[in-house]
Amino acid sequence: MPMKKSNTQSKEFNLLFIGDIVGEIGREKVKKILPKIKKEYSIDFIIANGEHLSDRVGVDIEIMREMETFGIDFFTTGNHVWRNDSFKKEIVKKNVPVIRPANFVSKYPGHGFLTVETKIGRMLIINLLGKEGIKEKVSNPFKKVLSILDSQKDFDFAIVDFHAEMTSEKVAMGYHLDGRVAAIFGTHTHVPTADAKILPNGTAFISDVGMTGPANSVLGVKKDIIVERFLNGTGGKFEVEDQGVGVFNSVLITVEDGGNVVKIKRIDKT
Ligand SMILES: [Fe+2]
Ligand SMILES: [Fe+2]
Repeated sequence: MPMKKSNTQSKEFNLLFIGDIVGEIGREKVKKILPKIKKEYSIDFIIANGEHLSDRVGVDIEIMREMETFGIDFFTTGNHVWRNDSFKKEIVKKNVPVIRPANFVSKYPGHGFLTVETKIGRMLIINLLGKEGIKEKVSNPFKKVLSILDSQKDFDFAIVDFHAEMTSEKVAMGYHLDGRVAAIFGTHTHVPTADAKILPNGTAFISDVGMTGPANSVLGVKKDIIVERFLNGTGGKFEVEDQGVGVFNSVLITVEDGGNVVKIKRIDKT
């Protein structure tokens, strides 16, 4: 849906997107930091990538509910969404505000996109998984997103969580959708990028929001295990880092009535 022209009396809608929440340390960061940020920036709606909302990977419904009490309204996911099998039964329930990638080849429960009401109209939220460097079988995300946008009529603006490994694939998706969606938030690498910008036709874009989790870890996993894996090909089972300080990575966008994005900025806290 093309974005409409802004006018001087537009309402502003502040949307915060939180990078993959990992482990107890990540959840504690959300608990401590989110209420303050919400107030400080007058945030209207909060989305988080929740593919790790169990002990390490997959989604645990109890933890997800706890995150809602701290202010998160909606969850996107990614390649790890089914690692906790019990969540397949939960995602089909009507009151679970979670989507999973829309372009899985296999038939899975749940939705790849959903529309929610906001103060500036109906927001279509789409979750896509990249093809490059991702083990899961997915269809072409560039084609899939066009088919979703073309098939959905009842929305005022759209945002996309593009959960992908390669920066080139993410940047290309930005230009592919520029002017068609309000924002594209890259996720999956857990490493925040410094390229938050508004593209030429008005779409807000960032390659990767980053992670909310243990700061001194390799993407959330205990660093020694991963270093050993790269050094000697060993290192044992992945364990989430549960010691030390945490980091909170997020991106804020301000959208005007009509779907025009007027601001995108990183909000990172340690
Ligand atoms: Fe992740
Ligand atoms: Fe992921």
